[in-house]
Amino acid sequence: RCADVTGVQTCALPIYVILNKFCKFKLQYFLERLIDMEERLQKRIAASGLASRRKAEELILSGRVKVNGEIVSVLGTKVKNSDFILVDNKPLPTLTKAYYVINKPRGVICTVDDPKKRRTILDILPEEALKQHVYPVGRLDSDTKGVLLLTNDGDFMNHMVGPRSGIEKEYLARVHGIITFNDIKKLSEGVIIDSKKTLPAIVSLESVDEKNNSSLVRITITQGLYHQIKKMFISVGHEVKKLTRVRFGHITIDNLREGELYKLPIKDVKILYELSLKDKELKI
Ligand code: URA
Repeated sequence: RCADVTGVQTCALPIYVILNKFCKFKLQYFLERLIDMEERLQKRIAASGLASRRKAEELILSGRVKVNGEIVSVLGTKVKNSDFILVDNKPLPTLTKAYYVINKPRGVICTVDDPKKRRTILDILPEEALKQHVYPVGRLDSDTKGVLLLTNDGDFMNHMVGPRSGIEKEYLARVHGIITFNDIKKLSEGVIIDSKKTLPAIVSLESVDEKNNSSLVRITITQGLYHQIKKMFISVGHEVKKLTRVRFGHITIDNLREGELYKLPIKDVKILYELSLKDKELKI
């Protein structure tokens, strides 16, 4: 079986690279699934819902986990989808894949385990979503509100947030000061943050509040660098006072109150997969 899997991988990789350049969408997506992705054993156990990541590490260290019949007690061991994992001689449970969209309120952090005991995204999820072990897809800052996806599907997560993901994220930013045409030009062509130039963005001025010396700017980006929007505005001399994510791919939250969530229909999950495989560069 191993030889078969390796054979498929050896052929699939070069084909994938060619398709990545010349072809889009479904074919490419199915080929990616053929390449049997590796992940850490403790992550795989946690993703099954059997135990938290920390508990999974304890299970491994205490010799209670077998991979393909052999006890594995080394943390960080990589496993493939095709590997057969037993914990206490029982197969891992299979979690039904779940996808949600929440309108994240301000004052909630996206990390799931906060040593400072601040309000986390898990604190505001309903029991049903918690039981499905969903995690935020990427992060929004604690003071940012708006569209946030949640899932327990690791493959989907990687497509949405990985470096290859070209999903559009649209924000409304209330910034200090009056934005000029030159600022918009710089932001859309790319600015230097953390020594790297940002990819092209779509930027437009929504309104100016002269009395309060602020501007409302709509900005769409395809990357997801740390504090990207705030840093982009700082680089042109404007501090972000309020930030709202109004769109992720084709998902908006027009009818969702803060803190409300809904299950993402599978047709939307498919569209997001396709968007993540599309042309990465925004046409500005
Ligand atoms: N960029 C930011 O600066 N903050 C966010 O929360 C999202 C994007």
